[in-house]
Amino acid sequence: MTTKNIAVLVSGGGTNLQAIIDAFNNRRIVNGNIALVLSSNPNAFALERAKKHNIDTCVIEKCDNREAFSDAIMQKLEEYKIDIIVLAGFMHILSGNIIEKYRNKILNVHPALIPSFCGEGFYGLRVHKAALEKGVKVTGATVHFVNEIADGGPIILQKAVNILQGDTPEQLQKRVMQEAEWEILPLALDLLCNERLIVENDIVKIK
Ligand code: GAR
Repeated sequence: MTTKNIAVLVSGGGTNLQAIIDAFNNRRIVNGNIALVLSSNPNAFALERAKKHNIDTCVIEKCDNREAFSDAIMQKLEEYKIDIIVLAGFMHILSGNIIEKYRNKILNVHPALIPSFCGEGFYGLRVHKAALEKGVKVTGATVHFVNEIADGGPIILQKAVNILQGDTPEQLQKRVMQEAEWEILPLALDLLCNERLIVENDIVKIK
């Protein structure tokens, strides 16, 4: 099996990127290599994490022209011969041509149990605020393939996290990351690198 070239797309702190780097270092992910960390934000701490581990980085800032933004991303993906894309706290929606070219090769981690609290406008802390406002008792995280619908692609892994009375959005975000995101994102990436994910009629099976 060939080793997959991975691009991790980030916009912020990069704790999910860190979880992936750690998983490579202790061989919880095999058959892959983080070739590039691409950030939409020049000040993202994720860039520092990548540099510390000698991973190539680049910054492509979102501009008004969505096509130009996507074309610039696509150019980098081609330059690095990327096989797999991971959206790890990347706060933008990818254009159709990237999704088409990388069908069932793009992972996204979302901080809720899809189909709850997801879709356009649900990102970062907003997701946890919405869960607390609704009063749900259980939330969690989802890793899914990216398709043309925001947070609507085939679901790969999910993990539930209990909401505790008195939780703030910040506390809940931290617990969802620690108990769910940092676990299931590396796990899903390992499954994809090792060609163990099969998608049939939008349903993911693990072989
Ligand atoms: C994570 O909680 C991730 O699930 C969320 O942003 C945070 C990024 O943290 N992503 C979304 O909301 C995308 N819809 P990180 O930069 O520390 O990995």
